[in-house]
Amino acid sequence: MLSIGIDFGTSNSSVAVYDPAAGGSVRLLPLDPHAADARVMRSLLYISRDGEIVAGQRALDLYTEQNTGREVIMERRYIAELKMVFSDMTVVKDAYAMIDVNEPGRLFQSLKRFLAVTSFEKTTVFGTEYRLEELVATLARHMVRAAENALGQKVTTLVVGRPVSFSEEPDKDEVARTRLSEAWRLTGVEHVTFMEEPVAAAHHYAAEAGLAEDTRFLVFDFGGGTLDITVARADAAGIAVLATGGVPIGGDLLDSRIMESRIAPLFGRGARYLAQDLPVPAHIFARLRSWQTIVELNRPDRLEIIRDAVRLTDSPRQLAALESLVTRNRGLELFRAIERAKIALSTDEAAEVRLRADAIDIAEQLTRAEFEAAISVQVNEARQCVLDTVARAGCAASDIGLVITTGGSSLIPAFRQALRDALPRAELTAAGTFTSVAAGLALAGAGEG
Ligand SMILES: Nc1ncnc2c1ncn2[C@@H]1O[C@H](COP(=O)(O)OP(=O)(O)OP(=O)(O)O)[C@@H](O)[C@H]1O
Ligand SMILES: [Mg+2]
Repeated sequence: MLSIGIDFGTSNSSVAVYDPAAGGSVRLLPLDPHAADARVMRSLLYISRDGEIVAGQRALDLYTEQNTGREVIMERRYIAELKMVFSDMTVVKDAYAMIDVNEPGRLFQSLKRFLAVTSFEKTTVFGTEYRLEELVATLARHMVRAAENALGQKVTTLVVGRPVSFSEEPDKDEVARTRLSEAWRLTGVEHVTFMEEPVAAAHHYAAEAGLAEDTRFLVFDFGGGTLDITVARADAAGIAVLATGGVPIGGDLLDSRIMESRIAPLFGRGARYLAQDLPVPAHIFARLRSWQTIVELNRPDRLEIIRDAVRLTDSPRQLAALESLVTRNRGLELFRAIERAKIALSTDEAAEVRLRADAIDIAEQLTRAEFEAAISVQVNEARQCVLDTVARAGCAASDIGLVITTGGSSLIPAFRQALRDALPRAELTAAGTFTSVAAGLALAGAGEG
């Protein structure tokens, strides 16, 4: 029987199939015909005003085409009648909300990361309410359908990856796990089992490389949302997992760090009102940390603060750039420019964050050393997580002879150096950066690896 593994990632997703009959090979299935590599689909969902739902690269293209540069028009609209029942009376109130009436469609990115955000339960998209689990299930169903099309048969059994830890707070971690299971239950696939992502990558590597028995190795899987680690030992049957560990830091957070350390001042952080010598309220700039929170600045009260600050502070040019960023919906474009610079810094010593549009004129040079200074806390956390996991595995740092790195963020030199520092005897090998987890899940589902 075919064994199918799905890696639903914060940034990217992939599906692999292992066919014991076809010479015991594992292969990645085409998921997204619009992607540069059809086997790696961006974990994106776009819901347009007319109800069309698209996933992957096309979701990004449609969002960009329809939303970037458009004017955001917020209006107060009637949403529903709210009934509040108190002990001695019932109050009926009309509920209103600020709605972007010019919005052609809504983009959802990093949905997996929101599984641990307990305050995000549901969202209303053009009048239809979606629970977070339903949004994740929509993306999951898309992957299942793509797999069924590629295989020409129905998928009834799946192994799906999950991070070692969604959150450092146990109750949030529990909520995220329950929501992930519920999302997959909603897909209707009969048998779904979950496996920790780095354990899957360990299975894949062991099966491919044929490790000598008793080799102790560590998998460092660093993606868009989480860092996941396992320490394992190769044995006659495949691998024995000695420990797993993880922290909710990932590429999204590193992008935020670039924003906070270098880009936010270009949008007016630090500006002061001329008359009173007071700063512009910090809550405005706190929302620059992601493009999703930049969208929240489009409320009249917050826009008023920004527009006043254009007139009344010592940084009118920067605040005008912020007004454009917010009202012209260029947050995602800016974060894509930041991410591009971050990726370039994995191979180059310097890169530029560049965005020129409307009142925005940014060409900010960023060196690798500056990037490393901005993410030093995260690098230390990663190093500590490696050491803790090795200790919990009952190993000394010197017992680890091999580190397998996977996930896009594992290509960042500062984290590779931290691994070398923490595990001085280990050889570092990058394996299947965007595909090893899915491949390992498929192998594990067949009892191989
Ligand atoms: N060459 C590179 N250098 C640095 N970062 C990179 C590079 N390539 C990709 N990234 C980053 O890697 C992340 C995506 O990696 P990946 O696809 O492994 O994550 P994921 O599996 O979707 O996330 P997770 O496993 O955390 O849920 C993004 O944050 C992206 O910016
Ligand atoms: Mg991943």
